[in-house]
Amino acid sequence: MLSILIFVLVRKQKTAPLTHKQKKFSMAAKLRWLPRLLLILSAFFLVGQTAVLSSTESHQRYIKHASGVHPVVLLPGNTCSQIEVRLTDAYEPLSPLCAARKGDGRWSLLWKNNSAPDAEVPCFADQLRLVYDHAAGDYRNAPGVETRALSFGSTRGFLADNAADKELCTGKLVEALEREGYRDGETLFGAPYDFRHAPAPAGQANRELHLFRRRLRALVEYASRVNGDMPVILVSHSQGGYFALDFLRRSPLPWRRRFIKHYVMASTGAGGFVLSMQRLATSIASSSASYSSPSPADVLSMPSVGRTFASTFTALPSPVAFGEDTPLVVTRNKSYAARDMPAFLAAAGLPPYAVRLYETRALPVALNLGAPVVPVTCVNGVGVPTPEMLVYRGGHGNAPEVVYGDGDGVVNLASILALDEVIGGDPRQEYYKSVRIANMSHLGVVSDPIALQRLIGEILGAARAVDTRVM
Ligand SMILES: *[C@@H]1O[C@H](CO)[C@@H](O)[C@H](O)[C@H]1NC(C)=O
Ligand SMILES: *[C@@H]1O[C@H](CO)[C@@H](O)[C@H](O)[C@H]1NC(C)=O
Ligand SMILES: *[C@@H]1O[C@H](CO)[C@@H](O)[C@H](O)[C@H]1NC(C)=O
Repeated sequence: MLSILIFVLVRKQKTAPLTHKQKKFSMAAKLRWLPRLLLILSAFFLVGQTAVLSSTESHQRYIKHASGVHPVVLLPGNTCSQIEVRLTDAYEPLSPLCAARKGDGRWSLLWKNNSAPDAEVPCFADQLRLVYDHAAGDYRNAPGVETRALSFGSTRGFLADNAADKELCTGKLVEALEREGYRDGETLFGAPYDFRHAPAPAGQANRELHLFRRRLRALVEYASRVNGDMPVILVSHSQGGYFALDFLRRSPLPWRRRFIKHYVMASTGAGGFVLSMQRLATSIASSSASYSSPSPADVLSMPSVGRTFASTFTALPSPVAFGEDTPLVVTRNKSYAARDMPAFLAAAGLPPYAVRLYETRALPVALNLGAPVVPVTCVNGVGVPTPEMLVYRGGHGNAPEVVYGDGDGVVNLASILALDEVIGGDPRQEYYKSVRIANMSHLGVVSDPIALQRLIGEILGAARAVDTRVM
């Protein structure tokens, strides 16, 4: 029996050189960002200090037996990054307890801090929520709250120390890569990101993603430099795929060709998934009553927190993958297809400005998802029952009847198949391969031994591929 379905599409075509206008724009952008770039670079070196230092130390040792390894840079899935917080004097605490570290200038762990007492969870919730700043046209933290993703540059930050996180946050994949000789900080690097945020259309303010792209660009260049200038293999899981695609598509094409050998995207579809609608409806339905005494690990699922994230909208089913009229959510009075998402969000209780943000910020990104124009291998699980339609007979508040279809348990098959068109179908995309592993779940792709063997095979295969591109 065929346990692995492979769909390969290889296309060769010359890419158009940058137009004069594009060149002019990037130069203007460079000049405008120069002062901030310096600031950002210094931030990168501060935050990434541990990883960069250990890499520098091992540099000599590595170079001795450098046989030309393509370094791997890994972006994990949702919730995997540790997020630290620092409270300035501008912070208005909910209670005296939440004010404990206000103004002391010290960073402490906000997300993935499981040692925090339950009593502090409301403080954590207040500090993790995002607000949309209408004047700036951007999402930001609550006033007085400063955050950062921990251990940029290393995979250690998102592995944490519990077994569940290891499966969820590519710990097994890191172990498998280490068995192949990869070493954290030498040939293997991690790019944790603030998963509360999301890519926005070009031209819209998005400070967090802008910072992330700068830091990732510096990391990729560093990884290449300490590995004999070999281009990098970028690997992402789940939500990391949205950040990686945004990063690649906004990097200058000559840069991509110079620094990216291959992009391996695991468990990300091209059109979102129905389960994200269920999560939204559930988070709205469950009033604060069901969270009377939440533990630190529950903080993200509290409606006052999760609903405020820009990333809440990222994986909503898009018309790219789901038919214009295919009902995804059915209530007694109405049925909602992908194009009815604004009405669904309103019915689910989101405020009008949030629905507007979906329409003007999240949806355009979903509709414009496209080819990264570097060699790509997509790896997805299929054959696992996956929510395809939600039937709410008792209104949004009650648990829905779930109609299951094909997919990886999270991402619907339609969304996985849409990759062939969205990425593979782009005439500028030279190499595209889609690997669909039968009976494999969303997490299984980066944790199941069979899937890992396949995934590692793709990564090592990409590393071995002869580079015929002209640099
Ligand atoms: C997938 O799982 C089903 C049910 O367990 C089984 O019948 C089928 O043979 C499996 N398919 C493959 C390709 O392993
Ligand atoms: C976790 O939270 C507690 C309570 O706020 C704090 O005392 C502790 O320092 C935090 N842990 C880390 C590693 O920052
Ligand atoms: C849906 O229909 C019920 C009666 O069947 C009605 O009471 C309710 O107000 C309707 N809801 C909406 C949002 O129209």
